Amino acid sequence: MACDLILVLDEPSPRVVQPLLRALSGEIRWVKIGLQMFTACGPDCVREIADQGFKVFLDLKLHDIPNTVGHAVESAARLPIHMLTLHTCGGAEMMRRAVAAQQATRPDLLLLGVTVLTSMGTADLNAVGVPGAPEDQVLRLAQLATGAGLAGLVCSPLEIAPLRAVLPASTQLITPGIRPSGAKADDQTRVLTPAQAAAAGANFLVVGRPISQAADPAAAARSILAEIAGRGTAP
Ligand code: C5P
Repeated sequence: MACDLILVLDEPSPRVVQPLLRALSGEIRWVKIGLQMFTACGPDCVREIADQGFKVFLDLKLHDIPNTVGHAVESAARLPIHMLTLHTCGGAEMMRRAVAAQQATRPDLLLLGVTVLTSMGTADLNAVGVPGAPEDQVLRLAQLATGAGLAGLVCSPLEIAPLRAVLPASTQLITPGIRPSGAKADDQTRVLTPAQAAAAGANFLVVGRPISQAADPAAAARSILAEIAGRGTAP
């Protein structure tokens, strides 16, 4: 299965990421703009980075009542983006309204459901009132999400195999929680290496700090691209 890298731009402004984007232009096709940059710079930063030729994954993780999320999807769909996230724990009706808004405005936009954050382990999940292990909750939310019409999911790489066993093969699986062997886990708990996640069947790997905090970020990104393509050293 083809697997591609999405470069995380968790910085306060597009200016900070320009040196890395210039260095990787032609090698990286996808970038992720999340809450940090979008809260600081808004839609302008999305347009600026899309104008440079990158495909933008806008990771807003929408989670509100169905009417509000539906209208937020309509607004986001007017931006030059190719992926947008919402939280599946917002429920089936919220997701149906989001899908209806996306279909009516941008049928080509990939709407992704975030299942359980990759920073959360069993104890964190139990503490917010969800019994069992993350995998059980991911499977439950994934079935709710695909039933509501979502074409893709964000999950930990550890859940790719169990999800692939029950979901249609066309479901796009996007996985943060990627750490090259030897890299710090930071606040992520459910992690795999790029080679392991690609081999498990992820469509896209989302990688931030292992690249942004490396001594040579462009080299770190190239090494992950090589590992995904099967040219790197798997652990
Ligand atoms: O720096 P790191 O590689 O951990 O970045 C992971 C990115 O993926 C962050 O931008 C985070 O917001 C996002 N994310 C995540 N877990 C999810 C969904 C998104 O870590 N379940």
